[in-house]
Amino acid sequence: MSATIRLQPSGHEVICDSGDTVLSALEKAGYIMPNNCRAGACGECKTKVLDGAFDQGMVLDMALSQEDRANGYGLMCMAKPLTASLDIEFGTIDALQKLFPPREFVPFIVTDKVMRTPTMVEMQLRPLGENLRFWPGQYVMIGDERVGAPLRSYSIANAPRPDGELHLLITKVEGGRTSTWVHEKVSVGDQLLVHGPYGTFVGDPSVETPVLCLASGSGLAPILGLADGALRRGFTWGTTLVFSARTEADVFDQGLMAWWSRKHRTFRSIVTYTGAEPPATAEFTGRIPTMLGQIFPSLEKHSIFIAGNPDFVEACKAACLALGAKPDLVHVEGYFPHWPAEVPPAERLT
Ligand code: FES
Repeated sequence: MSATIRLQPSGHEVICDSGDTVLSALEKAGYIMPNNCRAGACGECKTKVLDGAFDQGMVLDMALSQEDRANGYGLMCMAKPLTASLDIEFGTIDALQKLFPPREFVPFIVTDKVMRTPTMVEMQLRPLGENLRFWPGQYVMIGDERVGAPLRSYSIANAPRPDGELHLLITKVEGGRTSTWVHEKVSVGDQLLVHGPYGTFVGDPSVETPVLCLASGSGLAPILGLADGALRRGFTWGTTLVFSARTEADVFDQGLMAWWSRKHRTFRSIVTYTGAEPPATAEFTGRIPTMLGQIFPSLEKHSIFIAGNPDFVEACKAACLALGAKPDLVHVEGYFPHWPAEVPPAERLT
């Protein structure tokens, strides 16, 4: 027998098929709920159940204490409804996902640092203590005032992982004190203090449309985070990622793109070259605003995520709207030189 899961305070309803857990029912309906182990061991999916009964299954006490149980909490990765309906605390009044309050001075160790293009380095950071909880698409701030590197914002280029690792893509900016510090001074094994997460460039949890992602330069970072998160939760409406590169040297992560394309039939990755001498193998050339119509005669049904420098973002947004995209389905993240810490409004914080 199927059951109805009612999300509160929005009142949105999701059908939970017989045998499904609450977590899989939410994911099938396009909602994103934090989860790590999907086996009742980590506590990431702990949620308050306001009404109705459920079978909790076998879970670890350290993930759900007796006190949690007494207070009505359950682990949704293992919970199966026993009543015709189950009311759970989930998201905002608009059913948008709640965001985690930013933390300051969180210690991380640089576990790897690799040049991805001639001007962009990828830094991998692993937390020393508790994982920093974030949603795909959000960003953190790093810097070290003592050595003249002010705090600067960098998007997280991956979805949350059990080991808490963050991947940051950092382009060396002419005269940029923090990016120069990262490129020239920060080494593997160093400890960095991270602040965040910030920003609201997160995927709409209830999107039931194909997704188009447009990126240039390190704008690829939040897009990778969003795509990683969506593909991991089995998003099947189709995701196309178009990356704008001047030359072949600007293109990176092609191995990951190939793996995603083979593993997820609904994922497609495209590179368009804007420089005067595109590689002979280039399938697409020209700036995204001019070439997009060749691939998508209409964007009426798409949700669109655009990230890159502000001019790129504006031009792409205008092109998408001209191809029929609905303005409220176009989400943008423009990188400004001094990108401030954007703390989400209180009603969106957990
Ligand atoms: S996802 Fe780990 S306990 Fe549910």
